Amino acid sequence: MARPSSLLHLLARIALAVSVLLGHGVLHVRGSRRVNWNLQNTVESTSVLQPYRTSYHFQPSKNWMNDPNGPMIYKGIYHLFYQYNPQGPVPGHKVWAHSTSTDLVNWTPQVPAIVRSQDYDINGCWSGSVTFLPGHRPAILYTGVNLQHQQGQNLAVPKNLSDPYLIEWVKSPLNPLMASTAANGINASSFRDPTTAWVGRDGRWRVIIGSKRDRMGMALLYRSKDFVHWTQAQRPLHSAENTGMWECPDFFPVSAQVPVGLDTSSNGPNVKHVLKVSLDDTKHDHYTIGTYNSSTDKYVPDEGSVESDSGLRYDYGKFYASKTFFDSKNNRRILWAWINESSSVDNDIKKGWSGVQAIPRTLWLDKSGKQLVQWPIVEIEKLRTNQVDLPNKLIKGGTVLEVSGITAAQADVVVSFKVKELERADSLDPTWSDPQMLCSRKGALVKGSLGPFGLLVMASKGLQEYTAVFFRIFKGQNKYVVLMCSDQSRSSLNHSNDKTTYGAFLDVDPLQEKLSLRTLIDHSIVESFGGGGKSCITARVYPLLAVEDGTHLYIFNNGNQSVGVPKLSAWSMKKARIN
Ligand SMILES: *[C@@H]1O[C@H](CO)[C@@H](O)[C@H](O)[C@H]1NC(C)=O
Ligand SMILES: *[C@@H]1O[C@H](CO)[C@@H](O)[C@H](O)[C@H]1NC(C)=O
Ligand SMILES: *[C@@H]1O[C@H](CO)[C@@H](O)[C@H](O)[C@H]1NC(C)=O
Ligand SMILES: *[C@@H]1O[C@H](CO)[C@@H](O)[C@H](O)[C@H]1NC(C)=O
Ligand SMILES: *[C@@H]1O[C@H](CO)[C@@H](O)[C@H](O)[C@H]1NC(C)=O
Ligand SMILES: *[C@@H]1O[C@H](CO)[C@@H](O)[C@H](O)[C@H]1NC(C)=O
Repeated sequence: MARPSSLLHLLARIALAVSVLLGHGVLHVRGSRRVNWNLQNTVESTSVLQPYRTSYHFQPSKNWMNDPNGPMIYKGIYHLFYQYNPQGPVPGHKVWAHSTSTDLVNWTPQVPAIVRSQDYDINGCWSGSVTFLPGHRPAILYTGVNLQHQQGQNLAVPKNLSDPYLIEWVKSPLNPLMASTAANGINASSFRDPTTAWVGRDGRWRVIIGSKRDRMGMALLYRSKDFVHWTQAQRPLHSAENTGMWECPDFFPVSAQVPVGLDTSSNGPNVKHVLKVSLDDTKHDHYTIGTYNSSTDKYVPDEGSVESDSGLRYDYGKFYASKTFFDSKNNRRILWAWINESSSVDNDIKKGWSGVQAIPRTLWLDKSGKQLVQWPIVEIEKLRTNQVDLPNKLIKGGTVLEVSGITAAQADVVVSFKVKELERADSLDPTWSDPQMLCSRKGALVKGSLGPFGLLVMASKGLQEYTAVFFRIFKGQNKYVVLMCSDQSRSSLNHSNDKTTYGAFLDVDPLQEKLSLRTLIDHSIVESFGGGGKSCITARVYPLLAVEDGTHLYIFNNGNQSVGVPKLSAWSMKKARIN
């Protein structure tokens, strides 16, 4: 048996040989390129010494970044605060760093908004959220870690509301507003990350704080009339057994009728609620959809919701500590999240930075009401340039085709697949319930009937390195089951990094719909959206050969049935001003 690692390599060679013989096979797509006068700006190279820095995913110029904090829009300016260690590329003591933007794509760094200064936050100004008080006055609630390393919740407000950049923030003299005491039975090490607050029918504010009791994860509820004096409710808004600490909860309404965003205090008929928690034990952002009654202050997940790590996730790869905000200017709800490194601490120290933010995503409730859908904010498309299109094409099993003519290390690719002869799909063993496990066992090199087919991104010319983002279709009990995978196992010749393969099931019926895939490629990020954003997978990769101009993009089919590709468009992405 051929060594699996050489199979695609071989396939590429066969395709090449066929193309030499028959004049086709390896397709150098050059058709329908659009004229663009900004080409000079497009390939501003990241330094060769910094091949993994991003060109359009937000990151500070250096040091450690993790959670996004208090995203908002104020007087037409978008604000992003984030957990930042000004002292180096390791976690350390956090401050709220601050950047502003008019388009969510290009960012201007501002001075940190909240720094450690008082007994109650001297060991760290941790995550939190922004709420708009009456008169459209933004207020930050954040977690402070005090001298005794206890967590409590604090308030900060802008010094000058006429300044659209909100440069200066003032801490409340009454801080901490919510403390853990012996009386309330809250563990002082598990009491953090206040959400955006909302108003109930009684006019009082509500906010939740992430916590746990033993192994029970919980969202503690507090109420207030004036946003300063808070009282803990008798019962948490929600809790779930055996889920461990809930970090960075997020609680917000979604419309069950139209795919627009809602203000955080909206409720009523045709409104559902989403509770997202970041599971400290597994480092996954997990959510449920349900109903919230502001008279009883209870959130009840819909029947059938899975309240554990195997339930619904925003993203089935690296994606943590996320937070949404309502963009009142464009009536949409936007999701931010931290994408962690997959390399060693030593490597973070060597490169001088750690952590990036995912491209902000618009999110809404799917027509089925059973899951959310996410899509990169439309503004990111203004970075697209140098479009190449593949004409409608049938791709035989065992083919690897190059898509050339774009900067493959900095690109946006949209492709859809059409499969005939579905009845030939392999059967899904009912015990294969874990999609990540299934993707690890059936990587890009494992031939099937319908799939694997998809993209090879961040690939070196000889396919010594590539990240495979692909689909497989199985015959399930009474329907077809689509699996989406992001296989990092050959993403780098450097074997010291985390190259875990990720996977998700995709709720698309291949009898009725095309299978679509969009992948945002940005040097060390591969951020993929399957089925128009029904399942998303983000990966970090650190290739040695597939850097800058040494990077290639391929479309492949390693199943034994042909697959139609009605549409493929790819763009080079211009560099954004990301700080
Ligand atoms: C507040 O901000 C506005 C707009 O930037 C500025 O004109 C004004 O001088 C500021 N006021 C103070 C007291 O700094
Ligand atoms: C409080 O939480 C911390 C962190 O999870 C844990 O180590 C500690 O044992 C907990 N203390 C109590 C009294 O439960
Ligand atoms: C909320 O709960 C109260 C008390 O159980 C009930 O009377 C009311 O109908 C509920 N409201 C909604 C909108 O379900
Ligand atoms: C971030 O990555 C490091 C190193 O791979 C890992 O130890 C840590 O658990 C990760 N944290 C999250 C939140 O993903
Ligand atoms: C390989 O990865 C390790 C761990 O991240 C890193 O320390 C090392 O520098 C990398 N080697 C190369 C050649 O980049
Ligand atoms: C296609 O692949 C499946 C394995 O997934 C295999 O059972 C089947 O025999 C193959 N068919 C052909 C014609 O090679």
